[in-house]
Amino acid sequence: MRVIAIDGPAGTGKSTVARLVADRLGFGYLDTGAMYRAVTVVVLRAGIAADDTDAVAERARSCDLQVGPYGVFVDAIEVTEEIRGPQVTAAVSAVAANAGVRAELVRRQREWIALRPGAVLEGRDIGTVVVPDARLKVFLTASAEARAARRAGEGTTGSDTASVAADLARRDELDSTRAASPLATAADAVTVDTTDLTIEQVVAEVVRLWQERDVPNGAEPDTAADRASADGTTEADRDPAIGSTRASARASGAGHKVDSELIDRAWNAGEPTRWARLLYTVVRSALVGLCYLWFRLEISGREHVPAEGAFILAPVHRSNLDTPIVAAVTRRPMRFMGKDSLWGVHRAFSWFISALGAFPVARGTVDRDALRRCQSVLEAGQPLVLYPEGTRQSGPQLHELFDGPAFLALRTGVPVVPVGIGGSERAQGKGSKFIRPTKVRVVIGPPILPPVTGQGRATSRRAVRELSAALGHDLQLLFGQAQAGLPAD
Ligand code: DC
Repeated sequence: MRVIAIDGPAGTGKSTVARLVADRLGFGYLDTGAMYRAVTVVVLRAGIAADDTDAVAERARSCDLQVGPYGVFVDAIEVTEEIRGPQVTAAVSAVAANAGVRAELVRRQREWIALRPGAVLEGRDIGTVVVPDARLKVFLTASAEARAARRAGEGTTGSDTASVAADLARRDELDSTRAASPLATAADAVTVDTTDLTIEQVVAEVVRLWQERDVPNGAEPDTAADRASADGTTEADRDPAIGSTRASARASGAGHKVDSELIDRAWNAGEPTRWARLLYTVVRSALVGLCYLWFRLEISGREHVPAEGAFILAPVHRSNLDTPIVAAVTRRPMRFMGKDSLWGVHRAFSWFISALGAFPVARGTVDRDALRRCQSVLEAGQPLVLYPEGTRQSGPQLHELFDGPAFLALRTGVPVVPVGIGGSERAQGKGSKFIRPTKVRVVIGPPILPPVTGQGRATSRRAVRELSAALGHDLQLLFGQAQAGLPAD
């Protein structure tokens, strides 16, 4: 499995290392400790005693848990900071020792992995229990003094090094001696002592170990991100990708005839022509009407959609139905991107979607034409729908975002409107033909404005990252709200 398991005690730099490695390889990243902490918050809030084994395990099974790079949410409430507080830290070992809790969280962790082409997980039992067949297992260690100094230096605990050391020793003892999945080194793990290494050195070592295992005999690396990391740059150093999947790096778009003249004539003069607007209105009304009937569509936060000017509508993406569903949020004609193979289906179909204002994007490459067209659409004042997760994803949690939407927002100065859609995967997920009549809920969040600096608009890597992070945070929250109370299967 394309999984890197990183285990080790607290204070070894696990989280930072795991996050940076995931970033560099374009993999998903999961902090499993945050999951145990989040369950602890649920338990504390419910006033359940941490040693009430059955009640604690029941809470772990019933809560909605979203742990991602953009924050930690339980039952659609953000707990990103609360999980690091002293109360939670004091109670988490007891919760993590509960076999029922562990079974449930391991199940969720495996589900999370199954939805990703590559993943970095960090915790205590990743190499031993969660993913015994991980391609790379790393066990991080550091001297007790170094670990205590690092934790105290984080400043989140508000205590001195000596008491941090005592607390770490107490937790090590609890985590290593408990009956259920104690902290242990997997037999095939590579141990890295981080005492005298910088974070960057540890990251470089883990990436090197991965490449040793992932690219046998100098064969071609198989993802865009691998290629980027192999030549020493990362994806974000290059043009940001807007709608491709990281895992399918080979271009598939060539050869599809795109009626770009038609698109330009009908749509690119700022306002759509009259007939284009009419076609859009008729088709939109029909599709949106069907969505209201079939999905008992419920939309909240409409007031956040700008009444004029350009904006980027940024919804989560779980289903092909998302496009007609988001068309319901405003009557204003919005531009959409479609995968370029749609333009190869049939001439009439190609004409039809072009006339509706859709334009193609090549999958698996950085499509500069599409990026340019996005920019000109926004500069012409038209709203544009961009799925920040790139392709259709699966599962209740937000996937890592592409930087394209943030880059375009910074470049053009238009707001990004985040949209959570709950229920569309159940209505019609990947690979399913039938459209289920199940409830769909859309929650629109307040627009996120790209900051403007004195020098005009900065699209530095850092600015793009920060805007993507802000967008991810809001999307995760809205996605949780949109899914709340809907059937999960
Ligand atoms: O890494 P951390 O300090 O956030 O972890 C919080 C607690 O959860 C810690 O007491 C160990 C436990 N944990 C675990 O038992 N298994 C994991 N995979 C991750 C964390």
